[in-house]
Amino acid sequence: MDKFVIRGGNPLRGTIRVSGAKNSALPCMAAAILTEDEVTLENIPQVRDIETERRLLASMGAEVRQGGADAPHTTTIRCQRLSDPVAKYEIVKTMRASSLVLGPLIARTGMARVAMPGGCAIGGRPIDLHIKGLEKMGAVITQQHGYLEARAERLKGAHLVFDKITVTGTEDLLMAAVLAEDETLMENCAREPEVVDLAALLTAMGAKIEGGGTSTIRVEGVGRLHGARHRIFPDRIEAGTFLIAGAITGGDLIVAGCNATHLSAVIAKLEEAGVRVDILGPDTVRVRGAERLRAADISTEEYPGFPTDMQAQYMALATQAEGVSVVEENIFENRFMHVQELVRMGANIKVEGRTATVRGPAKLSAAAVMCSDLRASASLVLAALVADGESILDRVYHMDRGYERIEEKLAGVGAEIRRMGNIFAPKGEESEAG
Ligand code: UD1
Repeated sequence: MDKFVIRGGNPLRGTIRVSGAKNSALPCMAAAILTEDEVTLENIPQVRDIETERRLLASMGAEVRQGGADAPHTTTIRCQRLSDPVAKYEIVKTMRASSLVLGPLIARTGMARVAMPGGCAIGGRPIDLHIKGLEKMGAVITQQHGYLEARAERLKGAHLVFDKITVTGTEDLLMAAVLAEDETLMENCAREPEVVDLAALLTAMGAKIEGGGTSTIRVEGVGRLHGARHRIFPDRIEAGTFLIAGAITGGDLIVAGCNATHLSAVIAKLEEAGVRVDILGPDTVRVRGAERLRAADISTEEYPGFPTDMQAQYMALATQAEGVSVVEENIFENRFMHVQELVRMGANIKVEGRTATVRGPAKLSAAAVMCSDLRASASLVLAALVADGESILDRVYHMDRGYERIEEKLAGVGAEIRRMGNIFAPKGEESEAG
């Protein structure tokens, strides 16, 4: 298993570029199932979850081509025949987003077998709302041997009201609705930019959708969709992580190729903490560290609120701020696994239920720490960038699920970070569930 070796203390300076959004790319790749024509997606990040999705689609019979040396971020998918509409456990066990193929597979082929998802170990993460919606659209769903099996002649439009806001649930049912008979009205939908991105692709494929990005989405089902070419949005979580990297190291960093609008909640909080943030253009944000960071509370919410996917990274920053920062996690239970590692590096954090209380500033000292999930890993990288000495981060495969070449990008702006492969790793350990 690879490790990161990071020596803290360097302020980050220069320009760092944001990749395409993993969480947009995953549903957009799944949307290719809905047509027999070619779907070409640009700005696809080169991260582990995307490789898994490519393998998943190929295993179902899709032709999947990556753009080649000159366009490695372009992927073309053609699902002319889906000979095996099964999402096998061996492929999807590390990736929760496998549930995203459920809706499109039933809509296109009338049947789907999907292994129950894995992914980050942050709480129970059920998919009951996906199932409930598909059943309301006429699918018959059974569960056996760790697989969901769904069947429907043709899905029927329905009135769906989500009991709870769910991002992939909204995306999954949106993809089911575009080929369903008649109209589907979806209420209490997720408003995340990733839903907007997917709706834009589906519309380019010939779907009739109104209200993507609002809490009410109306879909008029069509008989067939055609191919399209689409560019994936920038990754707002990667961009937010870089903003914090600039702030925490007291640097002067330009985060390029992002979408500043998608970062509003994060930017507002950084400013409250005393960080200087300048929006230089719609896709460029400059961040400069504060003389003294001030404590500021966060409470994670659905978009446009403060994202749960930035909570761990923000906590690393809060350890350096003067005063008490209260961090409330409202989306996932059990999403404080980074805390014990930050404490091992010298942070002063107490957790009670869904609330973490961070007292700062704490002098962080380098340590050997373990990454437990994707965003927790990012939090540890940020902490290591300011810690005194050389930290070793183990299990960076979690990081590789969602951050493209992070060590090269950070090294490019002055961080002392390198990847170290572990030649003694037992065989097969790499594929451990993430
Ligand atoms: C997506 C993102 C993830 C992010 C999360 C919240 C992808 C691939 N992943 O995950 O990075 O952290 O949104 O912004 O886009 N829930 C149910 N039943 C369901 C579905 C969800 O109870 O059927 C609950 C979950 O347990 C959680 C909440 O709803 O408490 C939100 O989860 P959801 O929005 O579905 O997260 P994901 O779509 O899995």
